[in-house]
Amino acid sequence: MKLSAYSLKTGIFATLVFVLLLAMLLLDIVMIKMAEQDMVNAEKKKGILLLRTIEQTMVTSLKGHTENVLDTASPFFQGLHQVLDTKSLSGVLLINDSGGTIFETQMGEGHRRALSALAVQSLRTQKDLSDLSTWGVFPFLPLKRGYLLLASPIVYDKRVLGAASVQIPLRGMYSTIRQSQKVVLFYILLNTLFLALFGFYLLYRSIIRPINRLVRRAEEFKEGETFLLSSETRHNEFGKLSRAVNMTLRGLEDSKAELRESIESLENTNRELRQAQEEIVRSEKLASVGRLASGVAHEIGNPIGIVLGYLDLLKGSDLKKRERADFIARIEKEIDRINRTIGNLLDFSRPSKGEVKAVSVHQIIADTLEILKPQPMMMDIDVVVDHQAAQDTVLADPDKLKQVFLNIVMNALDAMAPNHTKRASDTKQFSIITSLVSESGSGTSGSTTRVHVDCVDNGPGISAEDLSRIFDPFYTTKEPGKGTGLGLSVSLRIVEDMGGDIKVRSDVGKGTTMTVILP
Ligand SMILES: Nc1ncnc2c1ncn2[C@@H]1O[C@H](COP(=O)(O)OP(=O)(O)OP(=O)(O)O)[C@@H](O)[C@H]1O
Ligand SMILES: [Mg+2]
Repeated sequence: MKLSAYSLKTGIFATLVFVLLLAMLLLDIVMIKMAEQDMVNAEKKKGILLLRTIEQTMVTSLKGHTENVLDTASPFFQGLHQVLDTKSLSGVLLINDSGGTIFETQMGEGHRRALSALAVQSLRTQKDLSDLSTWGVFPFLPLKRGYLLLASPIVYDKRVLGAASVQIPLRGMYSTIRQSQKVVLFYILLNTLFLALFGFYLLYRSIIRPINRLVRRAEEFKEGETFLLSSETRHNEFGKLSRAVNMTLRGLEDSKAELRESIESLENTNRELRQAQEEIVRSEKLASVGRLASGVAHEIGNPIGIVLGYLDLLKGSDLKKRERADFIARIEKEIDRINRTIGNLLDFSRPSKGEVKAVSVHQIIADTLEILKPQPMMMDIDVVVDHQAAQDTVLADPDKLKQVFLNIVMNALDAMAPNHTKRASDTKQFSIITSLVSESGSGTSGSTTRVHVDCVDNGPGISAEDLSRIFDPFYTTKEPGKGTGLGLSVSLRIVEDMGGDIKVRSDVGKGTTMTVILP
């Protein structure tokens, strides 16, 4: 069993020692003061006996005398003086009825004054008086007055003749008490130590050991166990504590299980939400593909017509070998054109692989415009591409990024379509300008460089009211069948997932600028 400075054991042991020592000292004080009282009383009795003897002696010898017996010059007093003035008496003082000292044994001035004062008081009150106040019983305190003073009036024939006082030395008594006190104090210390050790052993068994067991159990307790404390069956406070802790623990386990279930169901919901979002992205893409497909169908009509024409010519038998080769080459060229047009669309319509990699933004823009090139709505548009960004590599899923640009360009083309007449100039202009922009980052991250892609059209613009809603899902101003209203909301989600953003600026009647910001 180790005792460390701040442990419960040390605290209990120190408290025991302190309380026991205090109790024993208090008991000792009471006992010793009672013993002192008894011994002083015994001394007092002796002193009173002496006073009575003096009084008796005087009173007996007074019988038959009528003169002022206590006059120092009277023969009676002379006789009395000889009786009292023996070497065996010390510390005796007599006063007459007017307070004058008529007899005293040899003593110091201080003692004499104290004795005389007590005798005068006794004369005045006509009572036996005593005077003692000291704490001389304790070995290490100074003993100021080692004397007991007693005084008593001398009465003869109902007449107070004077008073006598004696002084009884108590030094001997006190030195005996003090000596025995030293022994008592030694035993007090010894007993305290012994009792403290014994008490500590009992407390250790009933309190400290169970607590230590609880501490050890708590330290060894592993998550997932239902019982922390095993002393549930006891009927004392430890049993109550065990029951309470175990109950709390069981409650915690239940809450944890509930929490786990909630987390699981949240994760499921989250997964389903992500799937639904992916579904929306795909639907939006297919909607675009649908719109593009009709453009493509229209576009490949021309080359198919040309191919059919050449095939007709080839059927003729009077063709020269060189002409035949030329027609075949032309047919190949047209078929190649058809192939490329369909290929681009097919390429775009394939589900995204969901692969994030370093891609060139300029290349993505070029691919997007390539898909749109055969579309009839591109025919009368003046498209300007200005790649100003010196560094255009971003981390992205290329298919999704293409989907974003395709939607933004198609929105611009729709806006500039012939039924929108409120245009600033007659030529329909659409420009894509890329640039590198340094943004001072918040906090300590310093500045970051981002690729900005400004898509500018000179269409009718967007009213302030619409501007706040164009990123809402299913918000469209287009007639049914022409737009689902998902384009911008899906685009924003794709770009935000990459850590980027889409900003829009628009002047009604002048045009719109959509800025795609890519990290
Ligand atoms: N460049 C633009 N000029 C004017 N209005 C625009 C422009 N871009 C978007 N808008 C407006 O924002 C609305 C929402 O666009 P969004 O791309 O989300 O849906 P949509 O084009 O209507 O349909 P979807 O893209 O699903 O076919 C459009 O209906 C249109 O009113
Ligand atoms: Mg759109």
